[in-house]
Amino acid sequence: MEFFKDFFDPGSGGQMLARYGHFLAGITWIGLLYYFNFVQVPAFAQMEAGARSEALRKVTFRALWWFRWGAMLTFATGVLILGLQRALGSEFSDYFSTTVGLSIAWGALLATTMFLNVWLVIWPAQKIVIGSAESVAGGGEEDPRAAASAKKAGRASRANTMMSIPMLWFMGFTSHFSSAYGQDGGFGYPGWVWIVFLAVLAFIELSALGVLGGYDSPQAKLFFDTHRNTIIYGFVTWVVLYFVVFEGIIGGNS
Ligand code: HEM
Repeated sequence: MEFFKDFFDPGSGGQMLARYGHFLAGITWIGLLYYFNFVQVPAFAQMEAGARSEALRKVTFRALWWFRWGAMLTFATGVLILGLQRALGSEFSDYFSTTVGLSIAWGALLATTMFLNVWLVIWPAQKIVIGSAESVAGGGEEDPRAAASAKKAGRASRANTMMSIPMLWFMGFTSHFSSAYGQDGGFGYPGWVWIVFLAVLAFIELSALGVLGGYDSPQAKLFFDTHRNTIIYGFVTWVVLYFVVFEGIIGGNS
């Protein structure tokens, strides 16, 4: 069968299967991320406390299961594809000297930061928020950490929404647009483009974590208070990383 021939080679069944899993898990994760940010948060703001608590325990709780395991499978299949590319000696795994290597490295680093936000920030904080709602619904006390945890989860969720915009560009760019920079994919670019990228990533993430001036720092309020601004600054980040750095610096060098 064609599917099993040279199973792990480029363009083979194994690679296709890993990508298929990656797409299915990716749309599950990011679809729910957008639902939380664009639908649930504004809807909850208009709901009464009792209805909100019930929705939190019955809707959000279930959505979060698909959300975090979707993130896990996206990450696992992404790492599998990266490993296969490296094992096969693909130019895609040359992260410091080819266009394709640089773009997949940036896409994967943005997405890995998002994955860590899901498992290390959003889910632990949401467990406290939902646990508190369960306790109140059962006639018990509210958890005093609930309000702060909701804020913490909200900031990380907005940062993920913002980062998803440039992330998906670089993820798809690798196979579908990088040839515009020359068929061999090779060029010389100044190493400091990595410093620009890492500085942008750190600024967004540390602002979301409240490390740069707290959860209500001027930039955290600007980027994360409204989903409208989160989308706008997501595209601003894309313009900076792609048009200024890729097109402006690297494109001019190739
Ligand atoms: C969590 C960490 C992630 C890692 C390590 C990762 C890694 C990868 C790798 C190695 C590729 C193959 C690139 C190529 O050969 O062209 C890829 C492709 C892709 N990934 Fe991810 N990814 C991650 C997250 C995501 C997320 C969250 C999405 C969102 C839906 C996503 C969507 C895609 C898409 C659309 C492609 C394009 C594949 C193609 O056009 O052939 N990835 N990813």
